[in-house]
Amino acid sequence: MLRSLDDDIEEILLSSEEIQQRLAELAAELDRDYAGKRVILVGVLKGAFVVMADLARYLRTDVEFDFMAVSSYGSATQTSGVVRILKDLDRDIAGRHIVVVEDIVDSGLTLNYLLRNLAARHPASLEVLALLSKPDQVRVETPVRYHGFAIPNRFVVGYGLDYAERYRNLPYIGVLKPGVYAEA
Ligand code: IMP
Repeated sequence: MLRSLDDDIEEILLSSEEIQQRLAELAAELDRDYAGKRVILVGVLKGAFVVMADLARYLRTDVEFDFMAVSSYGSATQTSGVVRILKDLDRDIAGRHIVVVEDIVDSGLTLNYLLRNLAARHPASLEVLALLSKPDQVRVETPVRYHGFAIPNRFVVGYGLDYAERYRNLPYIGVLKPGVYAEA
């Protein structure tokens, strides 16, 4: 029988229902905080596109979408802190309210770099929403205003997060079976 992606998962850390409920709560917070304002959601590709798509549909705030793609040099499961912009924003953000949408903050190095880069463009405000963080790991101060869940220091996949570009389409967050790494 064809093996499904689910068969590669050792443990589910966050179910689809838990994620959806938390996103709805975060959307309600954003709606309160940005009442009467127009916001640009900046998704950090590729992982955040799933978070952004679901979050945006709970929001009633007037939002525009834009995306950045960055790559951090390093091995598949470890960031080096050196970040390269592969795709920049389509538009100028001077004077605009920006909410950066991230899938996960691990060392915080990627986010830290992005925030410095975006702040230099003089937005009216700049905040971060991150679905996940690994609290043990954070190496640099990361001002995440809207935070989904703290997870243990394990490599996770699903809900936008990949291992070697796979598993992004799983609707939950899970941990891979060790055998999957061995096969790669
Ligand atoms: P940081 O710079 O260490 O905070 O790493 C942030 C980026 O590394 C995230 O946007 C993800 O793309 C990737 N990343 C960190 N931890 C994981 C994980 O557990 N699974 C999948 N990708 C991860």
